[in-house]
Amino acid sequence: MYAIRVGSAWEVFAPAKLNLYLEVLGSRADGFHDLESLLVPVRLYDHLKWSSGPSNSPCSLRVHSLLQNQPVLGDDDPNNLVLRAAECLADSAGIQAHGTFQLYKRIPMEAGLGGGSSDAAAALVLCNLAWGIHYPQQKLMELAAEVGSDVPFFFAGGAAICRGRGEQVERTPGLPRLHFVVVKPSASLSTPTVFQQWKKQKEPGADANIQTRAVESMVRHLRRGDLSAAGRWMVNRLQSAATAVCPRIQQVIDFISRQGFTAFGMSGSGSACWGLARSATQARNLAGRISRSFAGQVYCVSSCSAA
Ligand code: C5P
Repeated sequence: MYAIRVGSAWEVFAPAKLNLYLEVLGSRADGFHDLESLLVPVRLYDHLKWSSGPSNSPCSLRVHSLLQNQPVLGDDDPNNLVLRAAECLADSAGIQAHGTFQLYKRIPMEAGLGGGSSDAAAALVLCNLAWGIHYPQQKLMELAAEVGSDVPFFFAGGAAICRGRGEQVERTPGLPRLHFVVVKPSASLSTPTVFQQWKKQKEPGADANIQTRAVESMVRHLRRGDLSAAGRWMVNRLQSAATAVCPRIQQVIDFISRQGFTAFGMSGSGSACWGLARSATQARNLAGRISRSFAGQVYCVSSCSAA
């Protein structure tokens, strides 16, 4: 994630992410869950701008929705992670958070696409430069983990395996460019609700069935360009919980499964689902066909990880 300087202002394009694999390893005493997940950033971007604003005024945020018929958080919503990230950095550096943010939203909310987390990472990157703090990336990633579990991933600059709460980020270079169709039903899902449902559904002894080294096998196949072999390892352990909360997701998965993708799944805690195509051309063709018959948002995106 790179900031661009435009006069005295700064701006960043903040990508969405897809989880190609998500295993829940167990509950933790702090209320979170230990995870193992393969995430890839994809070319669907929010755009965050920072400018200095009136002097001595606190940090402010204007949210501009570029999404049709979908909610976005209001300017003052405490759940918006942009201001939370800015405050976290300011506290750590012992300064007053200041300036005006403009956030242009293209990534749907509560979709498992990491939009809020990516915006938070973007805010850390922007403020670190604009306020002249110049923390190294490692320090920004530590602050990112305080803001949200998925935020550190957006500093990886490509695909990564994330573990722990999400804050242990292992970069996975060498993956080919991947082409997806992302399908977001109109229903949205709250992450805590899905994790609570996962806890309710968890069968005793289920941990014993966890496939160790699955994620490494998948990465090995992806690096070789064998998408079909990689696809056999792509599971999302939150999918049945998300489906129990929102049955529409199962219909979306069933629909995607009939379209001829190499692999398919749900991202994060849902509700967005993805299909992995063999090529950019196949992704474009399938996205066109799906958008003609599917009531919801359809995006044709490729990964932004370097080859
Ligand atoms: O860290 P973040 O605020 O994004 O997490 C949102 C919610 O998702 C948490 O409050 C928790 O309920 C759940 N979560 C979890 N384990 C994780 C990540 C998130 O239980 N590793």
